[in-house]
Amino acid sequence: MRRDPYAILAARIVREMQDSPEKINMWGKTWKGTGCMGLKIVMLGAPGAGKGTQAVRMAQEMGVPHISTGDIFRKNLREGTDLGKQVQEYLNSGGLVPDSLTCDIVADRLQESDCANGYILDGFPRSVPQAEMLTEFLAKHGGKIDVAVNVDVPDEVIVDRLSARRSNPETGEVYNLKFNPPPPEIADKLIQRDDDKPETVQERLRTYHETTEPIIDYYRTLGVLVDVPGADAGPDEIYRRIMDVLPK
Ligand code: AP5
Ligand code: MG
Repeated sequence: MRRDPYAILAARIVREMQDSPEKINMWGKTWKGTGCMGLKIVMLGAPGAGKGTQAVRMAQEMGVPHISTGDIFRKNLREGTDLGKQVQEYLNSGGLVPDSLTCDIVADRLQESDCANGYILDGFPRSVPQAEMLTEFLAKHGGKIDVAVNVDVPDEVIVDRLSARRSNPETGEVYNLKFNPPPPEIADKLIQRDDDKPETVQERLRTYHETTEPIIDYYRTLGVLVDVPGADAGPDEIYRRIMDVLPK
């Protein structure tokens, strides 16, 4: 009797997970068994809290896309696109790109096929109207945010971290001259983000407290918020804390 191929595949996945819960090999790709696959996650936190650092690693481990509105805007700025020209003034001043423009871009991105099994949103939503639009958009498509991770870091630590942040323009990798030094062979090519100048950092923090911080309570009310202290340990320990509190 021929067995249903989906049943064979399901049995194989269960066997792989029992044999090696840390690693699952399928279709030539290694999925690390974080136990958190399929989640739709929002990363919250002040500028420089470490959202991007954590989101990149989480996305790699879970095999889902990392969607950073800041990265999308900076890419368009570098490439001189129409969108880049529209957002330039907001990024340079430390203000926010208008909600409608930002939401349209995210809505388009979330409809791409790689988002079907979860994603990590980093830097979006960033205002209560953006959070409400995201909830409505997902509800229309039969979904919802599963967890909002609030990486909690006080302002004085932020200023210190952002003054020492550098990134590799070729790979997008982010380093920190004090806390996560780059390999010496690439040190020369690293650049500092324009909006990491001290006066722009102050404006970004002001914008954060005024417009973005209220969405912590928005997600708390929805019952999906988890708070993670993010100031007293390095990226590896913060990653472990996040993994510990994600729904399994
Ligand atoms: P965006 O790119 O989202 O910037 P941000 O929120 O200001 O956040 P950052 O990227 O600066 O910080 P992060 O939390 O990712 O920290 P990172 O991991 O790099 O947005 C930029 C601009 O785009 C906005 O100002 C706005 O104009 C516009 N924009 C974006 N989204 C928008 C939206 N939704 N609506 C409207 N406008 C929008 O870490 C920081 C540094 O600390 C690094 O050097 C890192 O190596 C280091 N570090 C990380 N973790 C640790 C640790 N545990 N210990 C020590 N150092 C650490
Ligand atoms: Mg970032």
